[in-house]
Amino acid sequence: MSKRTIVSMPGDGIGKVVLDEAIRVLDAAGFEADYVEGDIGWEFWRSEGNPLPQRTLDLIAEHKIGLFGAITSKPKDEAFNALSPELQEKGLVYASPIVGLRQHFGLDICLRPCKTYKGNPLNFIRRGPNDSIQEPVVDVAIFRQNTEGLYGGVEWSNPPKQVYDALMTHPKFKQNFGDAPVEEVSVSTRIFTKKCTERILRAAFEHAKKYGYKSVTVCEKPNVIRETSGMMYKMAQEIQKADFPEIELWNTNIDAQMMWLTKNPENYGVIVAGNMFGDIVSDGFAGLIGGLGFACSAQYNPETGIGVFEPTHGSAPKYADYPISIVNPIAMVESACMMLDFIDEQEIAKKIRKAVSDVVSEGKVKTYDMAKMTGKADVVDKDAASTVEMAEAIISKL
Ligand code: NAI
Ligand code: MG
Repeated sequence: MSKRTIVSMPGDGIGKVVLDEAIRVLDAAGFEADYVEGDIGWEFWRSEGNPLPQRTLDLIAEHKIGLFGAITSKPKDEAFNALSPELQEKGLVYASPIVGLRQHFGLDICLRPCKTYKGNPLNFIRRGPNDSIQEPVVDVAIFRQNTEGLYGGVEWSNPPKQVYDALMTHPKFKQNFGDAPVEEVSVSTRIFTKKCTERILRAAFEHAKKYGYKSVTVCEKPNVIRETSGMMYKMAQEIQKADFPEIELWNTNIDAQMMWLTKNPENYGVIVAGNMFGDIVSDGFAGLIGGLGFACSAQYNPETGIGVFEPTHGSAPKYADYPISIVNPIAMVESACMMLDFIDEQEIAKKIRKAVSDVVSEGKVKTYDMAKMTGKADVVDKDAASTVEMAEAIISKL
């Protein structure tokens, strides 16, 4: 088979550091690939007014698989002010390139697994009977709809007349918001389509079946958000009944789920949610298994086979300029493993995961987060391993 080409998109800040280290781990594990670099992020917004240049989209369309570090995003006004006067004149509006990537390629399936590493000092613990200490083993796979819902980008402040008039035809809008002057109204829509809802639900059920999870939990709020959450839960019931009767279907509300998170996280298997609630619940579960240094994700389109794999964390600008990088590369390395699963290189993925798990359970090499230190440049002079040292420890276990 010819060598694969992977589009590496380091992005900004610590994205650059962790991606380099993940590629080193991939190389050491025997994964043979060529990497072409895709430009993305704040630097390209500032220099050319586009954080997601067409040339990067072309590279992904051609090679299909992207490994992504992290980008820096800033609010609308701050982004505008960062442009040179010539670019400002063009009336450009900043939009997150990662959201742009998802929408451009219809990467509507987002998978965020959260699995406890044995021996991780950051594992969640709780008090059990007779003041005993319990450390529940979490093994949850969160499927988040990645392109629609509240992050779909259909929003207005001071909505145009047609939109406002249409809203006024809804009795609830008229009753609750009809007295507010239109220029004081902001609207962010939450649109779900049947097609994408079915795709995320089926992806969740199929994953449960393939990996032996006993339940799929729809985590939404159908009692209040009747149309969108309601549609998702109803479709889940139909899909479960028709095609996955052996898998239990559970239904939790996002707010209650966040409370149960610390009460019985070990009870959940696959969780499926819309865009925003999926974002929230996946961060919640990630917190139980070590937080942003460990949280990985895949986003893909099952029809085109295009997939982008990235840690959940951002560019952590405050750590980006340290002479020795202190951040934990495990989230990026695990994201690379998800890429390997996706392209049928499970054996190499397994090898890397075992190496990561060996390093964590041995407990000798710990980045500052695992050592429970405050993130500062001098942590590497104390007990903490640097980003590079952690990657090297993983490589040494391969
Ligand atoms: P962040 O995830 O960059 O950092 C938050 C904090 O988490 C850091 O200060 C650090 O304490 C910790 N952290 C993050 N990654 C870590 C790692 N690998 N190891 C150890 N600790 C780690 O989120 P923040 O500060 O809210 O955002 C910074 C920038 O990143 C913003 O411009 C934001 O828009 C962007 N961002 C980008 C994302 C992406 O590229 N997908 C996702 C989230 C934020
Ligand atoms: Mg998030």
